[in-house]
This record gives sequence, structure tokens and C-alpha cells, in this order.
Amino acid sequence: MFQLTDITKSFGATVALSNISLEIRQGEHVALIGPSGSGKTTLLKLLNGQVLQNSGSYSLIESDRAESHLDSLSNKDLRRLRSEIAYIPQDLGLIPQLKVFQNILLGRVGKHSALGMLSKFLIPPQKNLQHIFSLLQRVGIPEKMYQHTATLSGGQQQRVAVARALFQQAHTLLADEPISAVDPARARSLITLLSEIATENQLTLVMSIQNVNLAREFFPRMIGLKNGHILFDSPEPSTEQLEELYHLSESELVEP
Ligand SMILES: Nc1ncnc2c1ncn2[C@@H]1O[C@H](COP(=O)(O)OP(=O)(O)O)[C@@H](O)[C@H]1O
Ligand SMILES: [Mg+2]
Repeated sequence: MFQLTDITKSFGATVALSNISLEIRQGEHVALIGPSGSGKTTLLKLLNGQVLQNSGSYSLIESDRAESHLDSLSNKDLRRLRSEIAYIPQDLGLIPQLKVFQNILLGRVGKHSALGMLSKFLIPPQKNLQHIFSLLQRVGIPEKMYQHTATLSGGQQQRVAVARALFQQAHTLLADEPISAVDPARARSLITLLSEIATENQLTLVMSIQNVNLAREFFPRMIGLKNGHILFDSPEPSTEQLEELYHLSESELVEP
């Protein structure tokens, strides 16, 4: 479904992704691992069309549609395509001043015109509210529906972000280090939730994750990124590969 061929992306002199080629099939669950600065966020944003490559090609093949090359799409098509790929940013991207159900409504922002969205936002249709309630039940916080988002704990806000992504009714869920800010028990519970939801809804799931053990346990495929390169793409990377992934080069070691 996602096909990346020889992708390179630089920010000024920094090469964030270098000659990346990979294919992700519909319904696959993929973990992106690697040290900070290795290009995980850039790769997720590229998949979502927020970042455009400098060279190489990225195409998306949806089951009922023709293949789309992302760099040749009109803004409208790009918006449609992005609306079908849910992205949970590392900072969650929620608006704290809004109520929980309002943040979830914003999940569909790309699917409507600005005016249509505004009217749905001001006077949400009953069926949307019912849908949002059922999603909040699914993520375990139905009682928070009408609370201000800022009053929720970090873990609860993550669940709101998951519900918002589901409300978007996307075929793909991209999550950028969704468990980095929570304790181990909550991390496990959230990753279980995301994996189960992806399986139930036959979503493609791509998640960056620092915890290699959890990645191993939950993901049948792990992609190791280092300095913008793919070091391995494997169901079960070896200890040597993992050591190489996190090994600091001489230049990164701080002199005492
Ligand atoms: N918008 C940007 N402007 C400049 N440099 C960036 C930008 N985004 C990412 N980078 C650089 O690209 C590299 C990869 O970053 P990133 O994809 O965020 O890595 P990771 O998510 O693995 O920590 C880093 O060196 C980072 O500083
Ligand atoms: Mg990152």
C-alpha cells in the first residue's frame, strides 16, 4: 500500500532520511525504532504527506483507487489522502481549551469544507456524538466526553488522541512515540489498545517506539533507523543489530 523508493529528505545540511526504500502492505503492524534524531518522525510525516521528499518516489496504492504519487497530487487530493491517514503526533496535537468531544470532532477536519466543519463543530449531529461516545467507551474514558481536555491526565489525553484518530475513519494509523511519556504499565496498556484497535479495524499501523522489548512483543515487523538509514527491516532483529542501532559513534561520545 505504501511504496517508498530511494527517498532522501534533507533539512538544510541535515540529511534526515537517506535512500529509504520500503513497502508497507495494508493491515501490517510496523514498529520504527532507533535513537533520537534517526529520522523516525520525518518518516512518519512523509508517510502522512506532511513532509515531501527531496528525491525518490513515494506512492500510495489504495485497494479501490489508482496508484497516487504524492509529489504530483493536487492540494485537494493530497488533503483527501491525508484525511485517510491518521497521525498521532508525539505531543498529541490536542487543543487543551476544547472539550474532549470537540477535539475528537476535529479528527474529520480534512474531510469537510471549512464551512461544513464549522457547522458540524458548533452543532454536532447526534450520530457524531453517539459515534464519539462509543469510541470513548472503546478507549476506556466515556465519562470524560464533556470535560475540558486540559483537565485530563496525560494518559487520558493519549486516549483522546487515539479516539480522534479513529473518528477520522482512516485506513492507516501513524503514531509518533505514543508511549514515551507514560509509566510502564500505562505504556503497555496503550500499546495493547492501539494494536487491538488496528487489528479489529484492519488498519495499517506504523508506530515509532523507543522501547525495544515492547516493539518486539507487539510488532511482527521492526524497522531500525540510524542516521536516516535503514539498518534492518526484520521480524526479529538480532542482538548485534540492536547494539549497532544504539551504539554511539566516537563523535557522539562526550569527552569527560
Ligand atoms: N523541521 C526540521 N528542520 C530542521 N531539521 C530537522 C527538522 N525535522 C527534523 N530535522 C532533523 O532531522 C533529523 C531527524 O529528525 P527526526 O525525524 O525528528 O528524528 P527522530 O524522530 O528519530 O528523533 C534530526 O537531525 C533533526 O534534527
Ligand atoms: Mg521523533
